[in-house]
Amino acid sequence: MDKNNRPKICLCMTGKTIEDDLRVLDQYRSVVDCVELRADCLDPSERFFIRDFPEKAGLPCILTIRRLKDGGKFEDGEGVRLVLIARALSFPKPDARANYAYVDLEDDFRAPVVEEACRTFGTRIIRSRHYLDGMPDSLDAAYEELTFEEDEIPRLTVNPQNSEDFIRFLEWCLQKPKCDQLLIASGAYGIASRILSWRLGSLWTYASPLRGGMEAAAPGHIDPFDLINIYNFDLVDNDTIIYTLMGQNSIAQSLSPYLHNSAFRKMDKNALLIPTPVDSCIDGLKMLEILGGKGAAITVPFKQDILPYLSFHSTDVQLIGACNTLVWRDSGWAGYNTDADGFERSLLEFLGKQDISGCKATIIGAGGAAKSVALSLFRMGARGLVLNRTYSIARDLARKYNFLYGHLDDRAIDLILEHSDLIVQATSVGMENEGDPISFYEFKGSEAVFDLIYYPVKTLFLKRAEAAGCRTMNGFKMLCYQAAGQYKLWMGEPPPQIYSQLEQPEQL
Ligand code: ATR
Repeated sequence: MDKNNRPKICLCMTGKTIEDDLRVLDQYRSVVDCVELRADCLDPSERFFIRDFPEKAGLPCILTIRRLKDGGKFEDGEGVRLVLIARALSFPKPDARANYAYVDLEDDFRAPVVEEACRTFGTRIIRSRHYLDGMPDSLDAAYEELTFEEDEIPRLTVNPQNSEDFIRFLEWCLQKPKCDQLLIASGAYGIASRILSWRLGSLWTYASPLRGGMEAAAPGHIDPFDLINIYNFDLVDNDTIIYTLMGQNSIAQSLSPYLHNSAFRKMDKNALLIPTPVDSCIDGLKMLEILGGKGAAITVPFKQDILPYLSFHSTDVQLIGACNTLVWRDSGWAGYNTDADGFERSLLEFLGKQDISGCKATIIGAGGAAKSVALSLFRMGARGLVLNRTYSIARDLARKYNFLYGHLDDRAIDLILEHSDLIVQATSVGMENEGDPISFYEFKGSEAVFDLIYYPVKTLFLKRAEAAGCRTMNGFKMLCYQAAGQYKLWMGEPPPQIYSQLEQPEQL
């Protein structure tokens, strides 16, 4: 896509001073297309200087003075706001770049003098309406009410409260004829509208300089560098094939988009993986269908729920009882599981071995992740012990592979000692940076210790093992290798090296 056609980014400045805004803007200048001065965020004394902002910014500028009730910080009355807006648009200069290119006026803000001045001097009006707490009953009606004048740019912001809301919004956007407009779904459920603004027919996506230390101008804003580095914003176009990451609300923090989109970029694939937080598998599949998606990465809590919707179950899906990858085939959604292979590859790399048959290993946990670990260890000929808080679940898993099983407490100490070549932590304990599922066990220092958790980078369990002299490994490489398996399934070709080369970012 040439630069003029590629999706555009509008950077929202929320600094307290113009100087702050300009300083941060400088860090982003090369990657954004226009800039919104959120004058409501400025200290009141700074508001006298907003007239000169466009000239100093050197990019097309939007003036916005957002009221509290619309999600902004402006607390004074409408009279004051009118004066500020009029002042900012006054004394237009012959060089249009020194004037505001746009002004954002809410649909209940009527000021003929300002509107006429805008038209005369070439400042386009963005006519906005904000549903901060949900969705309008009729998106059509809300949109129609917004578009008073042909030359205005309608801007509709909604706040989906669930995935059903977002699907309604998405479907509505996609069936609308394209024109100059801004259609935005804020909050966690709306993340795809920020990433796919170009496909939804929006002129640009609003983004905040989060990495520059500024607060998000609205819930759900993404940093422009993340739009580019994680979501390939500089590469995507209308032919881009979408893959989704189907999971809960928290998946916006997942590393999967970064991994896959880096690989797509590297291999020149016109493909993009986007997070789609959904409340059910049905909504996740609906979203895929609406976006014409060709595959998905499935994560907690849908790995089992998705099974009834599959037209094909791979052997690993059948053995593990969970699916982490969807691929669109003629007959429907084919389900695969790349977790066991991902674990195997990362474990062998960690141990520096090709063969671990006879290895005596303890698996802590018996949930979805532990099931993949158990299958993988079984295939490699290890002799396993499964320990779980819920004893019966440990028993059911262990029996499948002829492993031993036990309670997750000090009754298991002797069993662990007998299965201590390798200890794999596969529960969710430690994710919140607290808890150690085998605090009752004293490491000898000779165990190889693997925690499937990758954030925090080192759990308390892993730190304790390391302090005792054990070799340790977290789950990042497993994440990378299960993702590499997904790439292979989606693209039908070997995954690029990048999946084994990426370093774990310190923070999400
Ligand atoms: P995942 O797909 O991430 O494995 P899961 O299938 O819900 O998630 O499994 C979570 C695992 O963490 C289970 O083994 C669970 O033990 P139970 O089967 O007894 O629920 C374990 N787990 C979760 N919280 C735990 C806790 N506080 N103490 C010990 N084990 C815990």
